[in-house]
Amino acid sequence: MKSNIKPAEGKLGILIPGLGAVATTLIAGVEAVRKGISQPIGSVTQMGTIRLGKRTENRRPKIKNFVPLANLKDIVFGGWDVYEDNVYEAAMNAQVLDANLLFKIKNELEAIKPMRAAFDHNYAKNLTGTHVKQGTRLELAQQVMEDIQNFKEQNGCERIVLVWCGSTEVYFEASDVHSSLAKFEEGLKNDDKLISPSMIYAYAALKLGYGFANGAPNLTVDIPALIELAKLTKTPIAGKDFKTGQTLMKTILAPGLAARSLGVNGWFSTNILGNRDGLVLDDPDNFKTKEVSKLGVLEDILRPEENPDLYGDIYHKIRINYYPPHGDNKESWDNIDIFGWLGYKMQIKINFLCRDSILAAPIALDLALFIDMAKRAGMSGIQEWLSFYLKSPQTASGLQAENDIFKQLIKLENTLRHLMGEDLITHLGLDYYEELVEDVVS
Ligand SMILES: NC(=O)c1ccc[n+]([C@@H]2O[C@H](COP(=O)([O-])OP(=O)(O)OC[C@H]3O[C@@H](n4cnc5c(N)ncnc54)[C@H](O)[C@@H]3O)[C@@H](O)[C@H]2O)c1
Repeated sequence: MKSNIKPAEGKLGILIPGLGAVATTLIAGVEAVRKGISQPIGSVTQMGTIRLGKRTENRRPKIKNFVPLANLKDIVFGGWDVYEDNVYEAAMNAQVLDANLLFKIKNELEAIKPMRAAFDHNYAKNLTGTHVKQGTRLELAQQVMEDIQNFKEQNGCERIVLVWCGSTEVYFEASDVHSSLAKFEEGLKNDDKLISPSMIYAYAALKLGYGFANGAPNLTVDIPALIELAKLTKTPIAGKDFKTGQTLMKTILAPGLAARSLGVNGWFSTNILGNRDGLVLDDPDNFKTKEVSKLGVLEDILRPEENPDLYGDIYHKIRINYYPPHGDNKESWDNIDIFGWLGYKMQIKINFLCRDSILAAPIALDLALFIDMAKRAGMSGIQEWLSFYLKSPQTASGLQAENDIFKQLIKLENTLRHLMGEDLITHLGLDYYEELVEDVVS
């Protein structure tokens, strides 16, 4: 089988609602890489390799040389924000990247000015931006569609993908207006307040057939109405919440403990962070959205109901505190109470001094590139193979999410192999020994 993926010809527009810390770190990073100043470390599409065929074949190309991804040279960035700052100013404010580095790419960054946001203060009460669109939800969606089309024309883009890097919206659960496309479109007309701003961007993108990835824990595309629209317009979607920092560590460590059948009866996670994300999460309604996204991870990996002796009593607690002096340099502590042979107790402590947006930016890049490729490959709807990048992966209804990062990687790699007509790798490995045995016998 040969690949049926259309080639990545022409320019790819990556449009980002929310030009804050993550988005500006992504854009500045790609500019720096294009100028040869830096390397795209942490990006699996750019730096990662993939094994193909049998181990004895020694085939391990870079992923970007294996599948037809857009070249970084062909990417054009744009976006929306409730603040007017251009990307240079926003990146300086975010204080993630060094001012010297930003100065070297100042012209490119200054040229990217946010379009007016589709915003509703009730979804992020700690934000007071005024660079916003006016109108009903339907009018906002139409304005976003116009923005996208204008951007595409003005920049000569062949393709567009949207990645939500906007603030975490307040917590709410899907309801009737989200239950079907017809009801959702009726809700847009009626300016139904249960349709959040991120859903408006997602609707606009999907309606036009452009892929959408959600980097925040909001529902956004994780509702039947937008899944239906994605299927209708044959468009890929992925969500939700970039898997960085503490949750990344959790999904690396928990599978290891479970693999060794070690018990866990407590996992206390606390974070301090001082960026605008932290400010938004200081509101209990916005924190609730994040908490729900983070909490599911351990249960999904340890499956207490299937193994009550080891995980039945687990106490899992998550805290996020806004602490301005730390800026984007989030600090997290985990105290993990585990037990081993005959129930003897042990403890693990993790103190991760991480840089949140440094971990998130390459994820946003990879999601954009893979979603663009998925569209060219004719894949539509939920792209579960991109769970690898997400804290709370979207799955088909009734399907339990896979949060173990190693299984997620196998799924991602096998999807790429499948798309390119390569053999899937099961890691069984018996065939090597059977051949050896045959050699000996013969
Ligand atoms: N930093 C990380 O590592 C990380 C990890 C996982 C998820 N996230 C999520 O990604 C998102 C972005 O994080 P960040 O650190 O860049 O936050 P940030 O606060 O620096 O940036 C978010 C930006 O979105 C803008 N915004 C809010 N609502 C908007 C709307 N309706 N339309 C357009 N713009 C809007 C805000 O004005 C702000 O500039 C957050 O939801 C965060 O929870 C971040």
